Amino acid sequence: MKRLLVTGGAGFIGANFCHYWSATYPAHRLVVLDALTYAGNLASLDELIRSQRVRFVHGDICDRDLAASLIREERIGTVVNFAAESHVDRSIEDPQSFLRTNIMGTHALLEAVRAAWPHPADGDYRFHHVSTDEVYGSLGPADSPFTESTPYAPNSPYSASKAAADHVVRAYAHTYGTPCTISNCSNNYGPYQFPEKLLPLCIVNILEGRPLPIYGDGLQIRDWLHVDDHCRAIDLILRASPAAETWNVGGGSTEPNIRVVETVCDLVDEEFRQRPELKTRYPRSAPAQSHPSRTLMQHVRDRPGHDRRYAVDGAKIAQLGFTATTTLRAGLAATVRWYLENEQWWRAIVTGEYRGWYARQYPGARA
Ligand code: NAD
Ligand code: TYD
Repeated sequence: MKRLLVTGGAGFIGANFCHYWSATYPAHRLVVLDALTYAGNLASLDELIRSQRVRFVHGDICDRDLAASLIREERIGTVVNFAAESHVDRSIEDPQSFLRTNIMGTHALLEAVRAAWPHPADGDYRFHHVSTDEVYGSLGPADSPFTESTPYAPNSPYSASKAAADHVVRAYAHTYGTPCTISNCSNNYGPYQFPEKLLPLCIVNILEGRPLPIYGDGLQIRDWLHVDDHCRAIDLILRASPAAETWNVGGGSTEPNIRVVETVCDLVDEEFRQRPELKTRYPRSAPAQSHPSRTLMQHVRDRPGHDRRYAVDGAKIAQLGFTATTTLRAGLAATVRWYLENEQWWRAIVTGEYRGWYARQYPGARA
């Protein structure tokens, strides 16, 4: 039986990972440590917390002593670090919190495991750090996809902070023998994603009848990875990778933003055609107003320093037996349906009500 500490488990990928892990390994112990920033939402873990399949601890990964005592108290053998500031646009507005959480927070966690696991070689220990393909910078049209040996060349404060954290993790593995692995994955999408990121933003805006902002010409290319595939890849790395290894994880679906948004528009329109009751549930939506959702697309000012193209070479992780199995169209269709069926989840974010969820569920708990 494994005992896992999942940092950032109230965020998008962390919450999906907890659902995945709890369903796949029901006997394992899952402890979530999360500071509940604007991106943390305990409603995403509601059912797991209520059924006591997850213990939630409200705290900051920068608090080394808290993390170390939690690891000792819970006899944690595996830490999966998802906690981060994750949105590039916010990092351009205010880089400081990115440097603090992503670099200093990762360092504090590494110190916590070093203190709590004094003899890591004598047991089954693992610190897995979740990073991004954005550390490699931007590809030109003819460049080969990122491999694990592509030099780091981060361009945004977000990717620079993730790159710095990766280097610290690597240094701890090399210097202290801390049993670390790193994965650098591409753009995730799926349930529970905060509607500031492109795809949930577009779905919610279609349902609210608001414009869909396309930065610049919209021809920037991302490699789209369904979050379920990502969770499976992390599971495989935890089971099969030796320490001190790094793995790229891509979705094998590279598309320009504008094409992906068009597909989302068409999938929403199709759902409305199939299910006329949606017009009553979402009266402000483009299809309820008899407009194709694509008419909401609007080109807006480009993001400063916007990376043009990402693509991930999945050859190394394929050797462990991983390939992404969700096609982009099927994954987008499932994601559109999830947002249509989970209005309460995203509506609470749109209204800001979700931020009081913790205090309402656990009156008297530390806020
Ligand atoms: P997210 O922003 O949805 O969630 C981040 C979570 O971390 C939130 O629950 C937040 O409350 C928590 N957190 C933030 N600061 C914290 C702190 N100081 N202490 C404790 N908790 C804190 O992010 P996500 O999209 O789920 O991303 C998870 C990880 O995956 C991040 O490390 C991110 O860099 C990486 N990643 C994400 C993507 C993507 O497409 N979403 C792609 C590649 C890599
Ligand atoms: P995003 O979801 O913010 O992820 P990342 O910046 O980490 O790749 O953005 C995905 C792509 O979509 C990126 O090229 C920026 C673009 N984008 C828009 O065109 N409009 C938007 O409103 C947002 C949020 C992103």
